[in-house]
Amino acid sequence: MNPRYAVFGQPVAHSLSPRIHAMFGAQLGIAVDYRAVEVGHADFARALEEFARDGGVGANITLPLKTDAFALCAVRSARAQRCGSVNTLVRGGDAWHGDSTDGIGFLRDLARLGFEARGRRVLLLGAGGAARAVAFALADAGVHELMLVNRTRQRIAELKRALRSDSAFGCDLAQVDTLDGHYDLLVNATSAGHGGGAALELPPRLLERDALCYDLSYGRAAQSFLAWARETGAKVANDGLGMLVEQAAESFAIWHGRRPDAGAVLAALRRESIP
Ligand code: ATR
Repeated sequence: MNPRYAVFGQPVAHSLSPRIHAMFGAQLGIAVDYRAVEVGHADFARALEEFARDGGVGANITLPLKTDAFALCAVRSARAQRCGSVNTLVRGGDAWHGDSTDGIGFLRDLARLGFEARGRRVLLLGAGGAARAVAFALADAGVHELMLVNRTRQRIAELKRALRSDSAFGCDLAQVDTLDGHYDLLVNATSAGHGGGAALELPPRLLERDALCYDLSYGRAAQSFLAWARETGAKVANDGLGMLVEQAAESFAIWHGRRPDAGAVLAALRRESIP
C-alpha cells in the first residue's frame, strides 16, 4: 500500500494544503498522495482510523479539529503539549503521534518579512488554539512585552498562566482602547474575519510607526484586519499564507525527512494572485 497523507477539517474543500504538498513533492521528486478530508467533530476519530487502515501515515489537522486531534494522540511532542493543539499527525505502530508546527511556521514567516521579534512589543488578538501556538513561539523568541487581548477574559488568564512568562500581560478586547499602544507587531489570531460575529474594532494608536500587522488567516478572512492596518499606517500588513506554507514545510520534513523550499512555493502561490 502506498503511504497516504491528508488534511482533515471542516470546511476543507478550499484548503491549499493538497496543492502545497504536491508542489513540495514536485520540488524534491517525491510522489505525494495527499488529499483533503471533510469531517466534523462527531466523525473525526472514525475517519482517522479508516484513513490509517487505508495506508494513512501522516495528516494535517485544521479547524475545528486541532483540539480533538490533541486528545486522540497516544504521544505528543513537547511543543504540541504546551499549546494544547495538534496540527500534524504521524502514524507510529498502531497509534498517532501529534506535533504542532504552527508556531515555528509563524516565526519563519516573520523572519522572511525581516521582523526580529526579540525585544519588541507585541499585541496578540485571540486566545484560541492558533493564538496559543503563536504566543509560545513569541515568548520563546524573547519579545519584550506580549499583550494578550481576547473577547473572553478567562481564556487570557489561562494562556497567561500556561506561558509562565513575566513579559506576558492580558487585556479584555472591550478594554483595548485603554492600552498605551505603540506596539511593534500586532497579530490577529481571532476568527472574527471568518464572519458570524462582530467585526474587530481597534483604536489606531495601537500601532508604532513602523509596525507590522499580521493576520493568521488569508484570503477574504484576512481582508478586514489588513484594511484597518493599512488605513492606520502599518508599515507592513501581511496575511497568513506564508505561515500556512511554512507550517506545511515543517510537516513535510517530519514525514519525508527532507525540507522543501517553502519560499519558492509561497512565491508561486502569490503569483497566482491568491490575495
Ligand atoms: P483557533 O483554533 O483558530 O484559534 P478558536 O479556538 O475557536 O479557533 O479561537 C477563536 C478565537 O477568535 C478566540 O480567541 C475567540 O474569542 P473568544 O475566546 O472570546 O471566543 C476569537 N473570536 C472569534 N470571533 C470573534 C469576534 N467576532 N470578535 C473577537 N474575537 C473573536
